[in-house]
Order: sequence, then C-alpha cells, then structure tokens
Amino acid sequence: MKFETRAIHAGQDPDPTTGAVVTPIHVTATYAQDAPGVHTGFEYSRTDNPTRSALQTALASLEGAADEGGCVATASGMAATALLGYLLEPGERILMPNDAYGGTFRFVAQVLAEQGFGYDVADPTDLDAVAASIRPETRIVWVETPTNPLLRIADISAITDLAHEVGALLVVDNTFATPYLQRPLALGADVVLHSTTKYLGGHSDVVGGALVTSDGELYERLRFLQNAAGPVPGPFDAYLVLRGLKTLGVRMDRHSSNADAVARFLADHPGVAEVIYPGLAAHPQHDLAARQMDAFGGMVSFRPNGGPEAAARIAAATKLFFLAESLGGVESLIEVPAVMTHLSVEGTPLEVPQDLIRLSVGIEHVDDLIDDLAQAI
Ligand SMILES: Cc1ncc(COP(=O)(O)O)c(C=O)c1O
Repeated sequence: MKFETRAIHAGQDPDPTTGAVVTPIHVTATYAQDAPGVHTGFEYSRTDNPTRSALQTALASLEGAADEGGCVATASGMAATALLGYLLEPGERILMPNDAYGGTFRFVAQVLAEQGFGYDVADPTDLDAVAASIRPETRIVWVETPTNPLLRIADISAITDLAHEVGALLVVDNTFATPYLQRPLALGADVVLHSTTKYLGGHSDVVGGALVTSDGELYERLRFLQNAAGPVPGPFDAYLVLRGLKTLGVRMDRHSSNADAVARFLADHPGVAEVIYPGLAAHPQHDLAARQMDAFGGMVSFRPNGGPEAAARIAAATKLFFLAESLGGVESLIEVPAVMTHLSVEGTPLEVPQDLIRLSVGIEHVDDLIDDLAQAI
C-alpha cells in the first residue's frame, strides 16, 4: 500500500467488538485476566495500551520499519531522546550536530555529560568534519535534517557509513521532514526519532514523541526501556497523534508549497538580508535535499535587515503568524530562536544568530500569509 493509504489503515482496522471505524481511546490502566497470567496480550497500560499500539503500528509502517523492528511511542520528543540515553554504556560518547533543537543539546550537555557521557560537536554538512569527530568510543551519531533552526541538510546515507565504521548507531531526528518527505531507515539510519508534537500530530494540541527502528534487537531493547523507564503517552494523546497521521500527506503537500512561496517572497523582499529554505536553489545543500527529500517541508528561516531589534519587531507584528514556540501545526507560527526555542544553546557551539527568525508555515491560504509578512516587515 502507498503512504497515504497506510497513514489511514496501518494498525487501524475497525474495532473488532463494535465495528467502530475510529480506533477507540482505551482509557484503562489495567486489563482483566482469565487466569493469572492468561490475558488478551494487554495486562497494564504502561506496558501496552491498544490505542498506543495502533499509533506505533501506523508510525512504524510510515517510516518503513522492517517487520522485526517497530516503533515505541513516548510522552514527548525529549522522552524519546532520554530513552536513547539509556543505550549508552560507561565511557561511550555522542556526536552532536552543530545545529539542532536546543532541548536535545541541553539533554546531552547538561544531563548525559554530567553523568559522564562525553559528547563531540561537528558540522553535519561537512563529512570530513563528521569523520574526524567520530571516535572509537562514539556510540551514537545524532543527525537532525533539516536542522532546527538553520535548515541545514545532512547526508543521511554518507553519515550512516561513517557511524557504522566504528559500530555507532545513526539516529535521525526526522521531526522537520516527517516520513512523508524523508525516510531515514531506507537510507541506512538505525533509529528515527520524532517529536510527534509537530507535523505528525499536526494541530498543536498534543505533546508526544516516538522512536522507530528496523533492527529487531534494538527494537526489543527500546520496548524494554519504554516499559522499564515508563515515559509513555496517555491514550488520548496517542489518539490525537494517530488522527494527525491520517492527514499527514495532504498537510505536508500544502505546508511545502506554502513555504516555497513564502521563501521566494522573502528572497525578493528588500527588507530581508538572507532566506534559508532547502527548496531554494541558493541553499548550500539544495541538491542533497532534492535527492534525499520528496519536497522541502514547511519551515523557513530568515534574517531581516536591521539586526535583532528588527527581528523582534517583525515577530511581534505579524497577526496570522502567531508568535509562539513549536512548529508543524496547521496554523502558522513565527519565533526568534535565539531568545525562545534555542535560549539553552547560548554560548555553545550550537548558538544561533540573534537576528534569525524561524517560520513554521501553516496551511492557511498562502496569499494571506504573504500579506501578513509583508505588513510586518
Ligand atoms: C527537531 C526537534 N526534535 C525534538 C524536539 C523535542 O520534542 P518535544 O518538545 O515533543 O519534547 C523538538 C521540539 O521542539 C524539535 O524541534
């Protein structure tokens, strides 16, 4: 089945007891057993819950996980990152990109590092720099592509080869692209991470995360960790993400075409110094993005003329683009990463320009979005 069909059907057969075509929200903590240890496969909702199982089946299918692999859903994107932290053994290190979600770097630099796990930082667009930064002790190579917020593109299959030379796992945060536009497992990645809070949920009404792998052994370990550490999403949250997945394809098409038009408008605007969008031919990794992704997504970053003051003024002046953190919902959002989402990377190798504005371009009519930006700039 094609992607759009799996988004609606994978793991989502009609409910066998009632025929309900929508996966029920199973708000139960526990399940009656016929005899001690004899049950339907569900015994306690931290371990398994049917609504969460449906989401995990659907997302594993969309990311193209092998049958022996699968998905574990988590309570947030950060909870998914935290679960990966449990894979590290004493002396092992993580290689981080020099542009990534600030919270991910905060977890590595202020939690894992304090527990004794070292980290290195490299520019993910420079394969020589990545190769030089991978050490024998590197256990996880972390890639975000496109990166948040500078929208750099990392070559997933080339970095996979570098990571595998030392037996490290390649983890790809696929939050910005989504499996509709980019499937890292098919390019060799070992684990795909999502903040399902973003495009997968798609409506800014839920916080969630997920990990997907094709590796059977790794999947069993992640399943074990999901139950042992317990950062699971509740059934209503799992339902919201599952509902979001059904429309992912049509939303991403519109996000991508709107973002493309917004990026071209900004590129021609005299008040704008620099536009960053992987779909523009001027983007340094445009060719790689065109090879690796099916379209360029809904995120656009730009630097106005006039420095940080101009950025703050524009971000406060839009009306349709709400000034808010997060991204990937149907509504457009605007933010200044340096003082909002990426405050925690100030003074680190991941620091972002003070005058950078990040747009999450929604699925409103593109004319209205461009009018809004025009009046604000
Ligand atoms: C690329 C990326 N990864 C991970 C996260 C963390 O996800 P969550 O906020 O759901 O914990 C975010 C949050 O903004 C993100 O943008």
